[in-house]
Amino acid sequence: MAARALGLDCGPMSGFDADKVNAAFFAGTSVRVNFVCGLGYGDPSKVFGRSPRLSFDETCRVA
Ligand SMILES: Cc1cc2nc3c(=O)[nH]c(=O)nc-3n(C[C@H](O)[C@H](O)[C@H](O)COP(=O)(O)O)c2cc1C
Repeated sequence: MAARALGLDCGPMSGFDADKVNAAFFAGTSVRVNFVCGLGYGDPSKVFGRSPRLSFDETCRVA
């Protein structure tokens, strides 16, 4: 959300081999990967559009 607020396109994903990422980047540390995220400025003519979302009023009620 922070990166998108800065205008970046983001591609978070959990579907990868976490053991290999941990071995490549975090061997010998207590750090472990949670997800990876591609960041950049996409070509608007090629970036896949967002799927439909429910509106706030369809999903929330403020009491
Ligand atoms: C932490 C996290 C991990 C995700 N992992 C995957 C993934 O492994 N494969 C996938 O197709 N989408 C994954 N997604 C969803 C997509 O990255 C993307 O958020 C989704 O397609 C909706 O795109 P949008 O938020 O731009 O509308 C993940 C999203 C998050 C937040």
